[in-house]
Amino acid sequence: MQVLISQAQIGERMRELARRIAGDYQGQPVTLLGILTGSLMFVADLVRLLDLPSRIGFMQASSYRGATTTPGKLELLAGLVPDVRDRHVLLLDDILDTGRTLNRAIEAVRELEPRSLRVSVLLRKVGRQEVALEPDYCGFEIPNVFVVGYGLDYNDEYRQLPYIAALDSLRDS
Ligand code: XMP
Repeated sequence: MQVLISQAQIGERMRELARRIAGDYQGQPVTLLGILTGSLMFVADLVRLLDLPSRIGFMQASSYRGATTTPGKLELLAGLVPDVRDRHVLLLDDILDTGRTLNRAIEAVRELEPRSLRVSVLLRKVGRQEVALEPDYCGFEIPNVFVVGYGLDYNDEYRQLPYIAALDSLRDS
């Protein structure tokens, strides 16, 4: 496994992002809404560096397979999402690949009528996006390789790694 982004690089970038985000929101309270499970570390690290009154919520990205629901619809687990109506929401995801997941998440959050909605991704794969979507904040741009660590998994393993690594044997086509 090849280390792509070290723990130190992640830490430094988190501090930069936190400074930028705090500067943009200018003291206004913000609700960080992470997409489970990959955004867990991202949310936890960023919120502790963010000099803003903050709340935390999570949403679950999972596919419905029922006949009456849209396949791949994003599930909002009511118990995990605080009331965000008329609040500033910062949606956090681990990785922007094709953009489909984030696009659905944005639609789901918009239905909750937040005061504003911005998007932050930890990683963005270059040349993979299928949905036109520009995140407001991005940690790192990475090449088209399958990555694990810092919340990202392969078969639910490797999430605990404090760095981001490329699983060489699993290069996307
Ligand atoms: P889309 O294509 O919807 O995909 O933008 C975003 C989701 O796909 C998963 N994903 C990955 N997970 N290593 C991972 O551990 C990767 O390299 C990778 N690429 C995509 C991830 O769940 C993300 O939220």
